Amino acid sequence: MTSTSAPPHSGVFPPWTPEGRNNPFPWYAEMRKAGTVHYHPELKAWGVFGYQEIREVFTDETRFGPAPDSPHGRASQLSSEDRKYGLLVDTLPGLQPPEHTIHRQLFNPFFTPRAIARYRPLVQDAARKLLADLVPQGSFDLVHGFAYALPMLAIAVMLGLPHDLDHFRRFVRGFRGSTIVSGPDGSRPHLNDIELARQTRDDFEEFLEPVLEEHKAHGAGADPICASMNVDLTGITLPRDELVTKSAMMWFGAATHTTQTLITNTILELSRHPDQLQLVREHPELIPSAVEEVLRFHGPVFLIGRPVHRDTELGGVKLRAGERAECWLQAGSRDPAVFPDPDTFDVRRRPGQPNLAFALGRKYCIGAPLARMEGEVALAEWLRATKDFEVVEPEPRDWANSLQVVHLRRLRVNVTPAHDFEPA
Ligand code: HEM
Repeated sequence: MTSTSAPPHSGVFPPWTPEGRNNPFPWYAEMRKAGTVHYHPELKAWGVFGYQEIREVFTDETRFGPAPDSPHGRASQLSSEDRKYGLLVDTLPGLQPPEHTIHRQLFNPFFTPRAIARYRPLVQDAARKLLADLVPQGSFDLVHGFAYALPMLAIAVMLGLPHDLDHFRRFVRGFRGSTIVSGPDGSRPHLNDIELARQTRDDFEEFLEPVLEEHKAHGAGADPICASMNVDLTGITLPRDELVTKSAMMWFGAATHTTQTLITNTILELSRHPDQLQLVREHPELIPSAVEEVLRFHGPVFLIGRPVHRDTELGGVKLRAGERAECWLQAGSRDPAVFPDPDTFDVRRRPGQPNLAFALGRKYCIGAPLARMEGEVALAEWLRATKDFEVVEPEPRDWANSLQVVHLRRLRVNVTPAHDFEPA
């Protein structure tokens, strides 16, 4: 089966170690040098490191995926009770065609760049208010106060929910209960914490209820919640109430840690590259390409897998039907075959091909326009509010481990306010 194996490493798989999470890029480069596809015994799967090979995995559905019924293909094995409370079960990330196509058609219109532009002033307002509280403190945790808070407020803006950060933080923490895990020896998949999942779902329903009543009473609002309330359910498997609650939870789940990481990594990389920071300060028109460069250079999602449908070849390696191809997105976005001088952070880069931060193909991130807009607003407002800043969190920093998104738990920064900054 295996015609190439990963270069040896001692002890734990590098991306699961604190040092590996802090700086996985030398490992990716080492792997890529030895070939674009390797077998990972630790994952019992093929690791894909090259841009073109990752593109093949995401776009050639005769050979790969789309994703099975959960990020790790295990939702179909859940008990019916677990299935009910599983966050990624029966919502977009976990669906396959034809249900996937129906859901995507339902929600796509809300996420076009044009539709998202409507929310920009409201997200801008939210960012200004957060910074008006934070910046006068002089030193604070960027993640908790800004990068984690803004995506929650942005999704509340989109769904027409009250801006209640304390509640949102509880929900997002509680959603951990509804992710799918296996036993240590690959035993039957189950939810991480069914009690927490149930309680969070109950709290969330209670929080949502007045909003839904309002929507029903006024037929109000053109937002994804309304869409799922008013949709013709032909072809959609979930009962309407389930669809509304699960979808709303899913938007929160998918939109928070990912976008939080984009915002954190933007500030982190600009602090590491003062010449690039200076450029963006002098040329704010570079903000969109700076955000795009952060997505390429240090994207939030690192690992996305697809099942192999039939015996095939990828990057010169033979894969068998039933195996898995796990794509290292951060590695592909630094592939020198596609991005010249890939380890240089260059806010003026004009790449010929899209980076892989949002994947490619049928399951390309529906929230990409929203995430980009939030990244741009966050950076613009950060530059407006601060004259100078420095990251004071020591290395190696505190990265949270998850199977797919790697995010900083905290990042302490010292800031000097801009001379015309207006505190709250
Ligand atoms: C920088 C921020 C973000 C990153 C890096 C990101 C990344 C990704 C990636 C890599 C996928 C593909 C998963 C796969 O192929 O299995 C994905 C899918 C998805 N994302 Fe995002 N995401 C971000 C923000 C958002 C936001 C803000 C939302 C919601 C408003 C969102 C909603 C979704 C949904 C619903 C899917 C599933 C799409 C489908 O299955 O058709 N994401 N995201």
